[in-house]
Amino acid sequence: MPIAARYPSIPDLRDAARRRIPKFVWEYLDSATGTEATKARNRGALDAVAFTPSILHGEITPDLSTTLMDERYPLPVGIAPVGMSGLVWPDAERSLARAATKARLPYCLSTVATQTPEVIGPLTDGRGWFQLYPPRDPQIRRDMLARARDNGFSTLVLTVDVPVASRRERQLRSGLTQPPRLTPRLLAQVALRPRWALDTWMHGMPHMRTLDPYSSDTCAKDSTAHIGYLLRTSPDWDYLRWLRDHWTGALVVKGVLNPADAPRLQAAGVDAIWVSNHAGRQFDAAPASITALPQIRAATDLPLIFDSGVEGGLDILRAIALGADFVMLGRAWHYALAVLGREGPAHLVDILTRDLTANLGQLGAARPIDLRGLQTNAG
Ligand SMILES: Cc1cc2nc3c(=O)[nH]c(=O)nc-3n(C[C@H](O)[C@H](O)[C@H](O)COP(=O)(O)O)c2cc1C
Repeated sequence: MPIAARYPSIPDLRDAARRRIPKFVWEYLDSATGTEATKARNRGALDAVAFTPSILHGEITPDLSTTLMDERYPLPVGIAPVGMSGLVWPDAERSLARAATKARLPYCLSTVATQTPEVIGPLTDGRGWFQLYPPRDPQIRRDMLARARDNGFSTLVLTVDVPVASRRERQLRSGLTQPPRLTPRLLAQVALRPRWALDTWMHGMPHMRTLDPYSSDTCAKDSTAHIGYLLRTSPDWDYLRWLRDHWTGALVVKGVLNPADAPRLQAAGVDAIWVSNHAGRQFDAAPASITALPQIRAATDLPLIFDSGVEGGLDILRAIALGADFVMLGRAWHYALAVLGREGPAHLVDILTRDLTANLGQLGAARPIDLRGLQTNAG
């Protein structure tokens, strides 16, 4: 059966991925924090956004391309940063960076990924984004910016919705440690997922490689402490100003939900705001990201990037109608990799393209941005 029929949607990929990823890794990928109410709220609020279609539009030639921060993209879609991506699926960072470059979409490498800017930057054709968890030590801070710049990353993304570690109770219960330690219980779970096990064995046990040069100063490499947390600080507005002064490329702030922050970010010279609740992984009383979007749109004319819980083209159109200029997905790319290997991301691009085209046609719009201002029940 062709893959378009076997996995026509992101939920199909998710169900299949779950059967290919060891349980403790799945819990890391899938869990949110607290009772996971925010995660559920993201889905519920997206589903609740309805459009009222009008009729007799004639034939439409869809145009899904868009411009963000002076770059032209064929779809308003990219790959959000995922820490320990290569634990979720072996060699994920390289596979995703290559797939993004081929599809001419942005790939954002996390500070706490299992690959370094030195390895990933050259694969992104000068269009990669680097996500920064803000190092406390000014020396390390300067070094990370230099590594991102020297390896061809065009855009720096400062994540601000992780001022402290979140609890993620489901992940805690799963027995996952940092760096991952294979206890007998976890090994039994690995044994049930031979493809993952074999590929992980081939690529080596994943860890946060970007932080290797700094780990000896802070803690022993085999410490159970999460080096990603030991190195980082809770940034403030001065930190952001410092970054603006020291990073010459585009600067994005990720994890914004409060409209009052938007004009301040604009005044601080950021190039785009990323509206996100981290897929519900940080704070379980956060609003759904889609609910926060219209007020942030009204508070700034900066480009808005959106994520959290997107499961198809219709969700992308909902976000764009309510104020987003660009939409990122995190988990879905990993489902695609787990199910279809290196071919997976291209299949996800295909799903999103078909989905965007079908739903735009239904609404009689040629471009996603034409839905901005169209009457919805939410905006
Ligand atoms: C397993 C996992 C790890 C993540 N790691 C990071 C990270 O290192 N840095 C970051 O800014 N966001 C991180 N995020 C958040 C994503 O960038 C993004 O905001 C979120 O996954 C989007 O929601 P979606 O997965 O429903 O598409 C992570 C998300 C997941 C699921």
